[in-house]
Amino acid sequence: MLKANRSVAVGSAVAVLLVSAFTLSSASAATDDAGRRGGPGHSAAPQTLGSLGKKAGLRIGTAVGATALAEDAPYRAKVAGEFSSVTAENAMKWESVEPTRGTYDWAAADELVDFAKKNRQLVRGHTLVWHSQLPAWLNDGDFTAEELREILRRHITDQVTHFKGDIWQWDVVNEAFNDDGTLRDSIWLRKLGPGYIADAFRWAHEADPKARLFINDYNIEGVNAKSTALYELVTQLRKQRVPVHGVGIQGHLGVQYSAPHDIADNMMRFDRLGLETAITEADVRMPMPADSTKLEAQAEGYGVLLRGCLLTPGCNDFTVWGFTDTYSWVPDTFPGQGAANILDENYAPKPAYGTLRQTLTLAAGRH
Ligand code: XIL
Repeated sequence: MLKANRSVAVGSAVAVLLVSAFTLSSASAATDDAGRRGGPGHSAAPQTLGSLGKKAGLRIGTAVGATALAEDAPYRAKVAGEFSSVTAENAMKWESVEPTRGTYDWAAADELVDFAKKNRQLVRGHTLVWHSQLPAWLNDGDFTAEELREILRRHITDQVTHFKGDIWQWDVVNEAFNDDGTLRDSIWLRKLGPGYIADAFRWAHEADPKARLFINDYNIEGVNAKSTALYELVTQLRKQRVPVHGVGIQGHLGVQYSAPHDIADNMMRFDRLGLETAITEADVRMPMPADSTKLEAQAEGYGVLLRGCLLTPGCNDFTVWGFTDTYSWVPDTFPGQGAANILDENYAPKPAYGTLRQTLTLAAGRH
């Protein structure tokens, strides 16, 4: 009974959110009107994605590039003003923090954590165990299983300890699966076997018992072989009392693919396991050049991701993987594609930005 009611409620909420995307006018215009209606003396704080998100019961975050943060004042102002959580785009990855074995360099990551504290933002830690962006000494070192296990334990313990108390959510394990649902053939799986995942969560939890620990991946927005394999894994981990608290859905979409319209169905199964969820790396790329049709499809892609999150009670963060096309990782990684972010290269809002604002405005009072 309870179950039936819940799914009806979700169904009608989907309908409302879907309709909204097509009927509301620009939210930024609505905000300006509201501000003027307040009249003189009524100090209406500017509505930012972060402040709108707060009313909808979730954080709105962005990935932050260390160089841009240090050198680009308008970029810094946007990060500070618009968002309520931040993720280091690269500064907390293994190759960044331990380029030489045994010598840590926390400088860039510490900068971001300080910045976040000053701006009352929460920090998502990204990432502890991944197959990519590993230091050369680790990739090229011919370690035994025993040595590698100890290296991983030390890395997790030292890094989580360094940031203890400062990290809201850790992406403990990143991209462990192939699209067909099998575990990715990484240095970790090859040498340590599938148990490295549970170990990583246990070590991270020991080092900072208050941090929320996530498993994070891409192509798991909808219900598919990969998201189902991840669902089965976290079900097992929870049964074994492994301290996994959340599932991060990266949300790297492209306008040339169909949007994951079954995202709420997928996210709700994690929710029912008692897990938190988050959209951790949203962007929607397109074959270049951009045009208005592609920009509208992009807005819809962002909208689907955000609506999926809003419809899932335990979804507490929606992070975009950068907010301006100026610094996007997309053109380097997907040649011929780009324009994946919500603001253009001059920080002018694209339709996607309006969609996020409208959708968050509609969801005010969600919690
Ligand atoms: C990307 C960064 O944006 C790039 O700057 C870097 O060169 C490569 O990694 N999934 C992830 C992120 O979990 O860490 C990746 O970030 C994008 C894909």
